[in-house]
Order: sequence, then structure tokens, then C-alpha cells
Amino acid sequence: MPAALAAAIETRNAQGIAAGIGRLISSGQLPVGTRLPTVRALAQELDVSPTTVSEAWRTLAAVGAIEPRGRNGTFVRQVPTPGAGHRYRRVTEGPGHFALDLSSGTPDPALLPDVGPAIARLDRHHLTSSYLDNPVLPELEEILRDTWPFAPEAITVVDGAMDAIDRIAHAVVRLGDRVVVEHPTFPPVLDLLEQLGAEVIGVDLDDEGISLAGLKAALEQKPTMVFLQPRAQNPTGISMTAKRARAVARALAGTGAVVLEDDHSGDIASGDLVSVGAWLPAQTLHVRSFSKSHGPDLRLAAIGGNAEVIDAVATRRLLGPGWSSRILQSVLVAMLKDTKTIKQVDAARRAYGERRAAFAGALRDHGIETLGTDGINLWVPVDDERSAAIELAAQGIGVAPGTPFSVRPHPDHLRVTVGLITGGIDAIGTVAGQVAAASGPEQTWSTRTR
Ligand SMILES: Cc1ncc(COP(=O)(O)O)c(C=O)c1O
Repeated sequence: MPAALAAAIETRNAQGIAAGIGRLISSGQLPVGTRLPTVRALAQELDVSPTTVSEAWRTLAAVGAIEPRGRNGTFVRQVPTPGAGHRYRRVTEGPGHFALDLSSGTPDPALLPDVGPAIARLDRHHLTSSYLDNPVLPELEEILRDTWPFAPEAITVVDGAMDAIDRIAHAVVRLGDRVVVEHPTFPPVLDLLEQLGAEVIGVDLDDEGISLAGLKAALEQKPTMVFLQPRAQNPTGISMTAKRARAVARALAGTGAVVLEDDHSGDIASGDLVSVGAWLPAQTLHVRSFSKSHGPDLRLAAIGGNAEVIDAVATRRLLGPGWSSRILQSVLVAMLKDTKTIKQVDAARRAYGERRAAFAGALRDHGIETLGTDGINLWVPVDDERSAAIELAAQGIGVAPGTPFSVRPHPDHLRVTVGLITGGIDAIGTVAGQVAAASGPEQTWSTRTR
């Protein structure tokens, strides 16, 4: 048995061993209940230290794929069960109660359009009577199709971008599968992929999007899915250029990997919307969220692209909530058609663009260069993210530490949601000065606070 397992393990480190065994479990070659060899026996067979195998066992146990039963041995278990997202918790569980909380990655409530008039216009005919109606309101589907960056095979509507990503990942990714993500990326996505028992391959970004050379190298490992944020990448603010999207599509053509694009900023992003789906419509699932543009509590996002995956998502959903409230879809349709709302969203986009550019400019004046041009966040390099976050917290400013966004060890950063800074250019200059001061060596702070 150890020899048969060893044959399935391509990379002899803890992650590679966990992924190899994960694939055997997913494919049924190691059925539920199978007793695994001892740590020592497998370590000997693989010529690695028992600690490496123990670490792999811990990863597999953490996603629920195997179960240690003391002296009886370790056994293959049922599929992974959902659990807590530890990276996301680290971002959202700051000390709290900041005078200025820039840790959240959320839109400025004052820049969200007023939802009241659209709600006031709802009447009886908006109340759905049938469970069998189309889950997407026809008027909304029409608007989505008109504004989609490619002709999608199918469209559905779900409860926000993260719901879309969760549902698509569950439909596409199996234990041990490889998934390419941008490095750094949005922590809940890393938590989700870990829950699914996927092996994550992080590919660096440059100022045009995901690195092409990095992506090509990653594709040699035959990933099942590639997760991209085409605009206002969280945390860096990088937007993919059309040239890069075309090159990414070329690299992906014929690989069978599904592309999941998360346009989480939607209408508040200032970059042009590009999509790999323009070249690979049948291989792409493009997600557009209305959270940041029209309100996070509308809880609406659309998925358009590959029909097989979208049908699988919609069918599975019939066993749960069934559909996203058509009342809220009607509210969104009214807002998307309303001139005043359109102007409010345009104004929000401009305000975020100005705030971000002003903050990046002020940091540059302090000698700190940042990446990207788009969205509400800045990814700020710092000497030590822990002490920088503590120093800022002491001044009433909340920021997110960079580590939860990172796929692998990465120089220290903070993610600062500069889109939340109101008070104009003076306030931005002041906060940028505080962030710049905190970004430097620790002794600067102790000297200053003395
Ligand atoms: C990259 C990314 N994806 C998804 C989401 C979640 O969006 P939604 O509110 O539509 O679920 C966010 C929210 O900030 C995000 O930054």
C-alpha cells in the first residue's frame, strides 16, 4: 500500500502529499473507510521525514478527508465539511471600535445610491406567487445580457459575489484539485479553497494583471480552475488590461481549466471591463456583484458564462433557497434604469478614483510606491505589518494585515480601504502620513511615542 500511494504523489512535500492522497480519495481509489499506512511507513517509502507526512495528514484531517483514530490508525473519511474561515476572521476581527476603520474593504455608505425610491415603487405584481418562475427576472436578465462583456451561454442570479464563488467552486473543484489564484488575493477565497481540500497555486501579479509566465508555469500542473479578479483586484487594485486578458485566454485555450472571474467592484470600478470570456465563453464563469455599487445588502450578483456549471449551480440551489429574492431583483432593475441612481453610482466611482489616487500620491510623496489604479483598497508595503497595524490602531485607525491575503510567504503589507476616507484631500494627506510613518522601522515609532 505505501508504494501505491507513493506513485500518486508528484511533489514530495507536505502540500504535495496531501494533494496526492486527496486526489486518490476524490477519485474513489481510496474509498471511505480505507486504513492509511502509518506515518513512518509512508515517510520511508517517500524518503521524507515523518514530520512531513504528519503535516500532510494534519492538512487532510483539517479538511475532513481523513480521520485519525488513535492506535487503530488513520482512515479515509467522508467529504470535507464546512468550517470557520480563519484567514477572513483575521481580517475582520481587528481590535474594533476604531475612530477610522479602514480594515473592512467595504464601500462608503454615503456613496451608495438611495434604495428608498425603488422600494417605494414596488407593488403587488412584484410579489412572486410561483416557485417555478425563472430564478432570474426577465428584465434583469435583459440588462445583464446587454452589458455582459461577452455573449454568455447562460445567466443566473445569486446572493452576492462570494455566494457565486462558493457555489461555482463546489460545482467544479474536488478534493486534491489544483486551483490557480492571483497572489495576493481575497482571503475568503483562500479559506473556501482550503475547505474544499484544493491545492492552491498562487501566481504573482504585475501592473497588467496575472503574470503570464507565472500562469503558463502553473497551467503545467493541470489546474481545474483559475480564479481571477479582472478589475480593482482586492487587495492590490490592479485591473487587467485587454492585452493581458487576450494572452491569458490564449494560454488557457484547450486546457480544460475553468476560469472564474470575480468582478466584485462592478460599476464602481473605473477600469474597462475585460473578460477572458470574450475569447473563451464556454470556459468562463464571469461574476458581477452589485454590492459595492448599489448596496451590499441587496445581496445580488450575477453569474454568466458556461451553461453546464451555471445549470449545476441553479439546479443544486433548488434544494436550498431556490432563487434570490425577485423583490430585490426588481429593486435592482429599477435602480439600474433610474437616471438619478446612475448618476449617484457614477459620482461614487469618481469619488473612489479620486480618494485612491490622492492617497497613493501622498504615499509616493513619502517614498512609498503602491500598485494598481482601481477600486477602494491600497496594498501598502510595510516593514512589519503587525507593529504597523498596532501603531495605527493606537491612533484610532484600523487596517487589515497583509498575511491573510497571501498564498505563500510575502513581504509585509497592509490593506487599507482608502475609499472610506471622507473629508477631502486634507484628511487623505493626514491619514497617508500616519500610514507612511507606521510603515517604517519599528524604532521610529518607539522614538516618536516617547
Ligand atoms: C474580491 C472580492 N470578491 C467578493 C467579494 C464579496 O462580494 P459580495 O458582497 O458581492 O459577496 C468582495 C467583497 O469585498 C471582494 O473584495
